[in-house]
Amino acid sequence: MAMGARLCCSSILFVLVVLLLAATTMARGGVTSSFWRKSEATEDMPMDADVFAVPPGPNAPQQVHMTFGDKDGTAMTVSWVTMEEAGNSTVMYGRATDKLDMAADGNHTRYKYHNYTSGFIHHCTLTNLERGVKYYYAMGFGRTVRTFWFTAPPKPGPDVPFRLGLIGDLGQTAYSNSTLTHYEATGGDAVLFMGDLSYADKHPLHDNNRWDTWGRFSERSVAYQPWLWVTGNHEIDYAPELGETMPFKPFTHRYPTPHLASGSSEPYWYSVRLASAHIIVLSSYSAFTKYTPQYKWLEAELKRVNRTETPWLILASHSPWYNSNNFHYMEGEPMRVQFEQLAVDARVDLVFSGHVHAYERSFRVSNVKYNITDGRCTPVRDRRAPVYITIGDGGNIEGLANEMTQPQPAYSAFREASFGHAVLDIKNRTHAYYTWYRNDDGAKVAADTMWFTNRYHMPNHDDSATKQ
Ligand SMILES: *[C@@H]1O[C@H](CO)[C@@H](O)[C@H](O)[C@H]1NC(C)=O
Ligand SMILES: *[C@@H]1O[C@H](CO)[C@@H](O)[C@H](O)[C@H]1NC(C)=O
Ligand SMILES: *[C@@H]1O[C@H](CO)[C@@H](O)[C@H](O)[C@H]1NC(C)=O
Ligand SMILES: *[C@@H]1O[C@H](CO)[C@@H](O)[C@H](O)[C@H]1NC(C)=O
Ligand SMILES: *[C@@H]1O[C@H](CO)[C@@H](O)[C@H](O)[C@H]1NC(C)=O
Ligand SMILES: *[C@@H]1O[C@H](CO)[C@@H](O)[C@H](O)[C@H]1NC(C)=O
Ligand SMILES: *[C@@H]1O[C@H](CO)[C@@H](O)[C@H](O)[C@H]1NC(C)=O
Ligand SMILES: [Fe+2]
Repeated sequence: MAMGARLCCSSILFVLVVLLLAATTMARGGVTSSFWRKSEATEDMPMDADVFAVPPGPNAPQQVHMTFGDKDGTAMTVSWVTMEEAGNSTVMYGRATDKLDMAADGNHTRYKYHNYTSGFIHHCTLTNLERGVKYYYAMGFGRTVRTFWFTAPPKPGPDVPFRLGLIGDLGQTAYSNSTLTHYEATGGDAVLFMGDLSYADKHPLHDNNRWDTWGRFSERSVAYQPWLWVTGNHEIDYAPELGETMPFKPFTHRYPTPHLASGSSEPYWYSVRLASAHIIVLSSYSAFTKYTPQYKWLEAELKRVNRTETPWLILASHSPWYNSNNFHYMEGEPMRVQFEQLAVDARVDLVFSGHVHAYERSFRVSNVKYNITDGRCTPVRDRRAPVYITIGDGGNIEGLANEMTQPQPAYSAFREASFGHAVLDIKNRTHAYYTWYRNDDGAKVAADTMWFTNRYHMPNHDDSATKQ
C-alpha cells in the first residue's frame, strides 16, 4: 500500500497515525495510487490548432457527429454544421462510397447566445440500418460533399460482445487531445460520454465559438461511431447576466439524444440497448426527486429492462454518487439518496460518472439502510450493489482534482488523480473486462483493470474486491 507516498505534506507523526488507521479500518480496503501528477493550469488549444481546422470547400459540413437515433441502434442521428448558408440537409448512405442508394431527409436549426449566432446545425436520422453492416454516408450536396462511415451496432442479445469507450469531461486542451488519441488507439465501438463536452462556458461570454472548435476536434472519432451523451454542468449555460436563461441551450441545439424512443420527455435522460447492455443515462441537473418526470421515468424504465436479453445494466450520471475527492464532494448525494435503492433493487452492474477530474472506482457498496432515526449512515459492502466509477478525467481546462479526503474511505477501492479514459470489454452474459488507461502525458498506461461479473447471472460473486 502506497499511502505514505501520497501524504507528502505534514509531519511523520501524522503519516504514522494515518497508516495505523489504514491498517485497522481498511484491512480489506482500497488503494490510493502512488502515481502523482501535479495540478497545473491547462489551457485550451489555440483557435488555430490543427485539430480545429475548418474543412476545405465552400460551405463544407463541419463538426460531424452521430448518436443513436432509436433505442436499439437500427437508426443513427447524424448532425453537422454549415457556416455560410443552410444548404442541403439530406444524408445519402449505402454500403459503398459509390453506392449511396438510400436517402434520409433532415432539417436544420440555429440559435443565438448573447452576441453569438450559430451556424446552421443540421440533424438527420438514418433509419432501417442492418445490424453490423458498414455504411458510408455523405452530406453537403450542392456544395462541398463530405463522406464518412460507421458500422451499425449488433442486435441486442445476451452474449453479444462489445467494446464500450468511457470518456468524461473532455474539453479541448492538449491533454484532451492526448486522451482522444489514446481512445482511438484503444479502438472502442461506441462511447458513453459522461458529460462536460466543450467547456465553452469557461471563456468570456461563454464564447460559443468554443462549441464549434470542440465539434471540429471530436469529429475524428464521433463522425465514425456513436457517442452517447450525458449532460454535465458545463452544458447548463445558464447566464442571466448575459440574458441567457434557457438551460442547456447550446447543447440541446447541437447534440440530440434518442430520448423519445425510450419514452422520456426530455433529451437529458434516456436509455438505449447496445449489444448485451441496457444503458440508462440520467441527468444530475434536471429535477429527480420523487414524482418528477425523471424519477417516474427511471422507475418505469427499470421495469422495462430485460436481463435475459441485455444482462448488463449500466447507469450514467454526470455527478458521482460515491466520490472521496475534495472536489465536488457530496454534490451527487441528493441523487444517490433518491435513486440508490432503485439501483440496488434492480441489480445495476455499474454506475459511471464524470464531473470530478480524477479517477475512482468503488467496491460493491450500498448505503440504503439509513432512515434518519437509526443512524445507519455508513456505506457497507453489498454484493447486490453496483460498482461506482468516476471518470471525469478527460483533461479539460480546469485541470486535475488532486485533493482527496484522508484517509481513503472504506467504499473506495482505487483512486488516482490523473487524466485518462477507460474501456468496458463485454465478453458475454457473465464477464466483462474493464481497463482504465492513465493518460501519462504521451504514453497510454493500463493503470486499473478488473473482471466484472454480471449481477443478474452471477449475483453472489464478489468481483469488486479482486484486483486483476
Ligand atoms: C439535397 O440533395 C439530395 C441529394 O443530392 C437531393 O436529392 C435533394 O433534392 C436535395 N434537396 C434540396 C432541397 O435541394
Ligand atoms: C426536424 O425533423 C425532426 C424529425 O423529423 C422533427 O421532429 C423536427 O420537428 C424537425 N424540426 C424542424 C425545425 O422542422
Ligand atoms: C461579442 O462581444 C465581445 C465583447 O464585446 C466581442 O469581443 C466580440 O467580438 C463580439 N462578437 C460578435 C460576434 O459580435
Ligand atoms: C492532436 O493529436 C493529433 C493526433 O495525435 C495530432 O496529429 C495533432 O497534431 C495534435 N494537435 C495538437 C494541437 O496537440
Ligand atoms: C425477456 O426476454 C426473453 C427473451 O427474448 C423473453 O422470452 C421474455 O418473455 C422477456 N421477458 C419479459 C418480461 O418481457
Ligand atoms: C428506522 O430504522 C429502525 C432500525 O432499523 C427501525 O426500527 C424503524 O422502524 C425504521 N423507521 C422507519 C420509519 O422505517
Ligand atoms: C464468458 O467469458 C469469460 C471470459 O472470457 C469466460 O471465462 C467464460 O467461460 C465465458 N462464459 C460463457 C458462458 O461463454
Ligand atoms: Fe462537471
